[in-house]
Amino acid sequence: MLPKSKKPQTHKKINFKEKFSKFTEYWQPKVVANLNDYEIKLVKIKNDFVWHHHEETDEAFIVVKGAMHIEFEDHTVRLDEGEMLVVPKGVRHKPYADKEAQIMLVEPRDIRNTGNIEDDLSAPNDKWI
Ligand code: NI
Repeated sequence: MLPKSKKPQTHKKINFKEKFSKFTEYWQPKVVANLNDYEIKLVKIKNDFVWHHHEETDEAFIVVKGAMHIEFEDHTVRLDEGEMLVVPKGVRHKPYADKEAQIMLVEPRDIRNTGNIEDDLSAPNDKWI
């Protein structure tokens, strides 16, 4: 038996365009697959997120469509379509996007999107699409 929150793995391919067409809200990650204890999530983002860090894990941002920025204490990184960045564990960051962007996240299960911060932007986990 798989834990309740895990969807059974199938051999069906995942199409990002099709998955991104299934939701419109910003900063609400959707799980599309799991990989051992990690999850592959898709999220649409626009405008500012909150400053936060993740005590327990690194976090991968992969830009599927559009562009985003990740602000750090001392510099800001712009990520364009086809680019990625791994934010190391414990490092404060603030993602933002001037226009809507489509992002893939890779991180362990049960990670709060706002890290150490409880905020209106904190999103529920295990939302599969
Ligand atoms: Ni984060």
